[in-house]
Amino acid sequence: MARKKIALIGSGMIGGTLAHLAAMRELGDIVLFDIAEGIPQGKALDIAQAGPVDDFDANLKGSSDYSDIEGADVCIVTAGVARKPGMSRDDLLGINLKVMKSVGEGIKAHAPNAFVICITNPLDAMVWALREFSGLPHNMVVGMAGVLDSARFRHFLAEEFQVSVEDVTAFVLGGHGDTMVPVVEYSTVAGVPIPDLIKMGWSTKERIDAIVKRTRGGGGEIVALLKTGSAYYAPATSAIAMAESFLKDKNRVLPCAAHLTGQYGVDNLYVGVPCVLGAGGVEKVVEIELNAEAKANFQVSVDAVKELLDACKQIDGSLA
Ligand code: APR
Repeated sequence: MARKKIALIGSGMIGGTLAHLAAMRELGDIVLFDIAEGIPQGKALDIAQAGPVDDFDANLKGSSDYSDIEGADVCIVTAGVARKPGMSRDDLLGINLKVMKSVGEGIKAHAPNAFVICITNPLDAMVWALREFSGLPHNMVVGMAGVLDSARFRHFLAEEFQVSVEDVTAFVLGGHGDTMVPVVEYSTVAGVPIPDLIKMGWSTKERIDAIVKRTRGGGGEIVALLKTGSAYYAPATSAIAMAESFLKDKNRVLPCAAHLTGQYGVDNLYVGVPCVLGAGGVEKVVEIELNAEAKANFQVSVDAVKELLDACKQIDGSLA
């Protein structure tokens, strides 16, 4: 059986980390794509030279030509620019929308059967635009945000409860970052929900609220520390978990920005919800009954996403 092919569109900090992780896990052959001449080629060669030490077999190629992603099984998109000081949200939207247009057209022409994972920010709008520009089936285009947000939440909860991260599960909904909605009733330590742990004296509502707040601002906390860029290790490994569930048909239940068609009362928007990810892409959206607080917070998230899409449609009339 031929190896799977993974195309990484954008070979910056996250793209390079994705390539390293995919190679180490032998998920398939890897194409690093970028418009920056030399970067994808240099990273491909560097990672390939780690193969003999780490015993992985993967062909790595760097390219600035979309024909090299031909027939990819998975495309992970990080192409774009990050928001810089002085740049308005609409400036960023305008720049990254143009990037999504060229990436979408490249995927449409060369990898129309791929499972596509978008990471470029602002995530919930970019994944929607990428799907529009690529024309791929909605179930095959998702955004990576919830796995990262819930991993951040799990990390902070594990520290709070002094237990292994392995035994902490988190349930998050909604948009990426600021408007993410953690559902604490469904977040657990080994199956014991957080409200029960509070009753048991393991923590307090105030401390959990502070953890939720820190999680929402998790990306910004790292930007403030790094100063010259944003997080890349945890975002990359989160997207790899999603790619692996597709490639191995694992049917993992992972929070993704997925296209909703009425679930949670939302139609024709990409919003973060738990999904079953398998060989068919998004095979199912897990729809739970939300309590009043979660419902209200989810609505704030949905409204924020709608506002972003309106701004996208203003910028690019072809999306209206
Ligand atoms: N086509 C292909 N690649 C592009 C294009 C394009 N049209 N425009 C920009 N790029 C490339 C840049 O050359 C750069 O190498 O995208 C890469 C982005 O890499 P970084 O700037 O290092 O950003 P990274 O940290 O990887 O984050 C990528 O993910 O989390 C989000 O907010 C983050 O939107 C950002 C994205």
